[in-house]
Amino acid sequence: MRQAGRYLPEYRALKAEHGFLKMVRTPELAAEVSLQPTRRFALDATILFSDILVIPEALGVGYTFRDEGGIAMERRLQGRADIEGLAPESAVPERLAYVGQALSLLRSEIAGARALLGFGGSPWTLATYMVEGGSSEDFARVKALFYEDRPAFDLLLGKLTRSLITYFKMQIQSGADAIQIFDSWGGAVAGPDYEAASLRWIREIVAALPEGFPVILFGKGTGAHLVDQAFTGARVLSVDWSNDLSIVRRNVPDNVAVQGNLDPAILNTTPAIARREAQRLLESMRGSAGHIFNLGHGILPGAKVECVEALVDAVTSWK
Ligand code: CP3
Repeated sequence: MRQAGRYLPEYRALKAEHGFLKMVRTPELAAEVSLQPTRRFALDATILFSDILVIPEALGVGYTFRDEGGIAMERRLQGRADIEGLAPESAVPERLAYVGQALSLLRSEIAGARALLGFGGSPWTLATYMVEGGSSEDFARVKALFYEDRPAFDLLLGKLTRSLITYFKMQIQSGADAIQIFDSWGGAVAGPDYEAASLRWIREIVAALPEGFPVILFGKGTGAHLVDQAFTGARVLSVDWSNDLSIVRRNVPDNVAVQGNLDPAILNTTPAIARREAQRLLESMRGSAGHIFNLGHGILPGAKVECVEALVDAVTSWK
C-alpha cells in the first residue's frame, strides 16, 4: 500500500522543492521518499515510491494531478486508432530505466534488513485511466469500449499486459523481493465480466514471471472474486478494508496468504483508537496462518503520525 505521502512533513518538504513527477523520475529522490516511512516506523517492508501511471506514460500518455484531486491524463484513447498509435511495449525498459535505478539504490541501502516491494497497476486499472482520460466516477467510456469493441479493448489490455511483464521482470532484476499488482478499479467491473475485463490479464502476468516469484494481488471492491483471485498464481491476496479478513481467511485456499486490511481512515482518528482497532483485527486472525498485517488501502493525507506509531507498536508487540 502507499505508505509515503502528505501525512509526513519530510515528504511535504521534498515535494514542495521538487514536485511529485520529478521525485518519481529521479532515482535518488524516489529512493529517499521510499525510505522516509521506514526511517520513522518499524516496518517489515519498503515499497518503491513511484506510481502505477508510469506505464501509460511510457506508452505515450502522460499524467498530471488535478487541482481538485484525482488524476488527469494528457489525452484519452478514443478507439482502435489511438490504441494502435501508442508507443511499442519494447520502449518500456528504456523509458522506465529510472525505476530500475531507484530499486537498485534501495536494494543496496536496505540489503537484507527488510523486504523490498515493486509494484504496478493491473491492465484493467491502467486502461481505465487511459480510456477515461483520468480519474472517473462511472467508468462509462472504458466500459463502452469493453462492450462495443472487444477486439480494440483486448488490443489495449494485451499491450498493457506485455508492457507490465517486461516492467516487472526489470523490477525483479533490480532487486524487488515481491511485486504487488494493484487492481484498484477491479470493483467497477460488472461481476460476470471481471474475468474478461481484468482477471485473465493478471493471470497472464503472473504466469510470465519466474516460477515461484511472489506476487501480491490487491483488488479494491473485488471481495466477491477473492477465491478466483486465489487461483491466479498470486501468493498473497491483499484485501481491501470493506471485507472481514477472518471470513476471507476461511474462504480462500491455505496456500495463499492474506494481507490487510485495516481501514486507513482509522489513522486519521486517535492513537488509542488506532491501537484498539489494530488489536481487534489481529485478534480476529488469531490462530490462522498466513496473515500479513497491512492497511486495506493506501494511507490518507490526513493520517496522524502518532496513529501510525500506535498502530506499528500494536502490531510489533502483539503476542
Ligand atoms: O508509499 C509509496 O509511496 C508507495 C508508492 C505508490 C504511489 N502510488 C505513490 C503515490 C503506490 C503503490 C501507488 C499506487 C497507485 N497510484 C494506485 C494503486 C493503489 C491505490 O491507491 O489504489 C493508484 C490508483 C495510483 C494513482 C494515483 N496516484 C492516485 C489515485 C493518486 C492520488 C491522487 C490525489 O488526488 O491525491 C496518486 C498520488 C500518489 N501516488 C501519492 C503517492 C505517495 C500521493 C501524492 C501526494 O500526497 O503528494
